Amino acid sequence: MSSAVINVHLERPIGVISKHIYGHFAEHLGRCIEEGIWVGEESSIPNEAGVRKDMVAALRAIRAPIVRWPGGCFADAYDWRDGIGPRDQRPRRLNVWWDKEEDNHFGTDEFVQFCRMIGAQPYICGNVGSGSPREMMQWLEYCNYAGNTTLAQERAANGSAEPYRIKYWGIGNENYGCGGAYDAAAYAREYRRYASYLRRMDPTVELIACGHSHEWNLEFLENIGRLDTLDHLSLHHYYGSGPARGFSTDEYYGLFPKALELEGRIVRDAELLDFFERGAGRIKLAIDEWGVWHPEANPSSDHYQENTLRDAVCAAVLFDVFNRHCNVISMTNIAQIVNVLQCLIQTAAEKMWLTPTYHVYNMYQPHMNARAVEAEVECSTLDLTHDGKPYSLPTLSASASVGQDKESVCVTFSNVHLRNEMEVTVRFRGVERLGSGRVRVLTARKADAVNGPDAPDAVAPQRGKLRRRGNTVVCTIPPHSMAALMVKL
Ligand code: AHR
Repeated sequence: MSSAVINVHLERPIGVISKHIYGHFAEHLGRCIEEGIWVGEESSIPNEAGVRKDMVAALRAIRAPIVRWPGGCFADAYDWRDGIGPRDQRPRRLNVWWDKEEDNHFGTDEFVQFCRMIGAQPYICGNVGSGSPREMMQWLEYCNYAGNTTLAQERAANGSAEPYRIKYWGIGNENYGCGGAYDAAAYAREYRRYASYLRRMDPTVELIACGHSHEWNLEFLENIGRLDTLDHLSLHHYYGSGPARGFSTDEYYGLFPKALELEGRIVRDAELLDFFERGAGRIKLAIDEWGVWHPEANPSSDHYQENTLRDAVCAAVLFDVFNRHCNVISMTNIAQIVNVLQCLIQTAAEKMWLTPTYHVYNMYQPHMNARAVEAEVECSTLDLTHDGKPYSLPTLSASASVGQDKESVCVTFSNVHLRNEMEVTVRFRGVERLGSGRVRVLTARKADAVNGPDAPDAVAPQRGKLRRRGNTVVCTIPPHSMAALMVKL
């Protein structure tokens, strides 16, 4: 057994953790929308207005705060007009990026309805690669304009006289690649052109630019000209190490440094924004695609992959990073919500089950809109090689926050060691005595454990044991596990 200490410094606040850090992404890819979200009104799968009810209940339970849609690369070949009006009259199109026919039965109105069912904010990603500022401006008018124009009337005829008031609009997706293969300077000019029309149409919207490498982001910011047109700069981060299951010990550990490269990117790009904004701190980073991408997820598998405990623990480690950097991160959207890549929910026709990653979202819920405080970790490290260089991986990751009630503290922590149990001592600096506490632990006998239709609860949180004395809590957690501790001050 190893041991570690977490010093929770209640008197050292970092900032508020936006609930949107626990956000989602749904693309017309594989069985994400089709089957995962949308089954149609005629389906024998229980649904409300075509949206499957079991999935809605699961997402309501974790208070899913925001969903990005319709892509991804899909967005940069999408014409929003194809997805409105009577469903039987909507065109069937080929999406060039995913080489798949799209029946357009799930369009803007269905998306907004789905978001309302789960209680999330919609975030629309517009088409820059093959679209135009006019198309996107009209999409915004359709969604948000309260007057009596033809587009507002069309929305009313399609079921909503009230404007949707969609706040988040992404100007393109991966515009260095599937979104039009721009260079950073050309994209910056294009971004400015789109942004000026969108802002004029609705000054209340928040606009998200497509970011990429540090060099791209630097060149983009040098060329954008008007920083006031920008509210969020996006980053995408995918990683993998070996197969989804049956990985070696080296492959198991190798996932963590790859995931944690994101922390360096966050720090460097936050510094860049700070430099261009001269410390104003208004523009934030939106990590609007991230997660494990295993080799099994490819076009022939509909980008479906097994979701293991290892993936979930790695997501927990990244959430600790996001919580620690909550001052510069406005949202993150894991890829993707259902059936694709590191999803939270998987389905097989009428069956639905939750992945281990879902349970991480559930256990991290108390951090949403809470105030992050410093959680200083003392633990052993593992000597690894990453990118051909020596790398020290801390065996424990942690983050902490104080709830809006100012009385409850949530400390989340993960033991990434593959073999050792860990005794974790959590000291709450700044108080002398603690009230009640409880801890829940997510683990399984093997790090590649998964849930499935016949064993939906193989990996599920269990109540853990803790000892409490003065301002200290001690609990022992198994190898490859994560835990959420709640205490009352
Ligand atoms: O999430 C799958 C794909 O990964 C998205 O469509 C694209 O933006 C990214 O490359």
